[in-house]
Amino acid sequence: MDGPAVGWQLARTMALREDSTFAPDWARTLIDPQAFAHEQRCLAYVWTFLGLTTDLAKDGDWFRTTLAMRSVFVQRFGTVLRGFENVCAHRFHPLRTEDNGNGPIVCGFHHWRYDADGSAIGIPKCQENFGTVSRALGARLNAIEIATCGTLVFGRFPAPVRRDSLEEFLGPGFPILSAMSRSRSSPRTLSMPVAANWRLNLHISLDDYHTVAVHPTTFGKSGYMRREDMSYVRFGLHSAFLNTSKPDAFADMAAACADGSFRATHYCIFQILPNLIVALLRSDGEFFHCYVQQSVPVAHDQSVQRIWVHPAPFPADHAWPIRWTRTLSDPIRNRLLPHYVRRVGREDNAVCERLQEVAHQIDRPPFLSAVEERIGWFEQAYRQLVAEGNDIVKNTATV
Ligand code: FES
Ligand SMILES: [Fe+2]
Repeated sequence: MDGPAVGWQLARTMALREDSTFAPDWARTLIDPQAFAHEQRCLAYVWTFLGLTTDLAKDGDWFRTTLAMRSVFVQRFGTVLRGFENVCAHRFHPLRTEDNGNGPIVCGFHHWRYDADGSAIGIPKCQENFGTVSRALGARLNAIEIATCGTLVFGRFPAPVRRDSLEEFLGPGFPILSAMSRSRSSPRTLSMPVAANWRLNLHISLDDYHTVAVHPTTFGKSGYMRREDMSYVRFGLHSAFLNTSKPDAFADMAAACADGSFRATHYCIFQILPNLIVALLRSDGEFFHCYVQQSVPVAHDQSVQRIWVHPAPFPADHAWPIRWTRTLSDPIRNRLLPHYVRRVGREDNAVCERLQEVAHQIDRPPFLSAVEERIGWFEQAYRQLVAEGNDIVKNTATV
């Protein structure tokens, strides 16, 4: 068994090196601030996770975040969510200077007030200073497109070409993410700065080869994965790993999530381009948690991991004593899981930071094993998105 398997892997690895899914200069944006800035400019047009609707429950609630390095905010106006670049139309002061809040859009610099469409409708002393009424001035905020999947809020900068809806972008992942993201309680949140490029964070999340070496106490020997025991699935630009060899496990999960019959039975993780991870973690026996992580780019060599965890919103086949004690055991589980997530995250992030230290010495694609195959898929999809964004950048002056 070992002989043919090793031979198959070597042949495959050699093929990967010659016919690489990686660009030869794939590490350039890790060390070159200008290349990184251009990459981010191109990715501004891609549906990107921004936050959760649970933070926009009441009319007027808003949160501030970044979209491809640009400060943006999302706000609830009645039943609709709107997003804007966080820059005043007057003299560019940020409109939102906190991470979240509630209230109308009024700039702190000269008190210009905006409506739900981003139009400046209340400009102090407008007639006196600008010679006309507020609406006639035609000043407005730069709007971003907003769409939701379950409780997940996505945004992108508009482009003058027809592009896919969020549902089309996520494909069969849409019903899965929609179902997984629904939380009965407020998610626990974590934030971890990482002194490494955001793509290195994504790479390690797609790597099922490092577990024993990097997580010796958290996963131990059980971290060794055999390719034939798992399902790797590519859907559109995205990919998933389901810890089952059952044929059609992904399609079955999508169908069950869509009709509400899904039950959690195994670990699975979905990497959504460009920088979102959604996973179903086995937190204890038959208990599962949903895990949402975003690797937010901050600079070519800096990122921040934003993490949300909540009990999986799926029924489970628990024996009656477990069901009975659940009200007591759930809070303990909810408290322990973030500690575990932080510990595993620190172990992964330490590797990414060591890689970042030598990124200037990387001058070729890596060797990818059978259980690192999805990193190559990610790089292909990433390059496609940057190329599409580059075409938009060339043809538009809005971003
Ligand atoms: S910069 Fe916002 S009102 Fe002047
Ligand atoms: Fe890891």
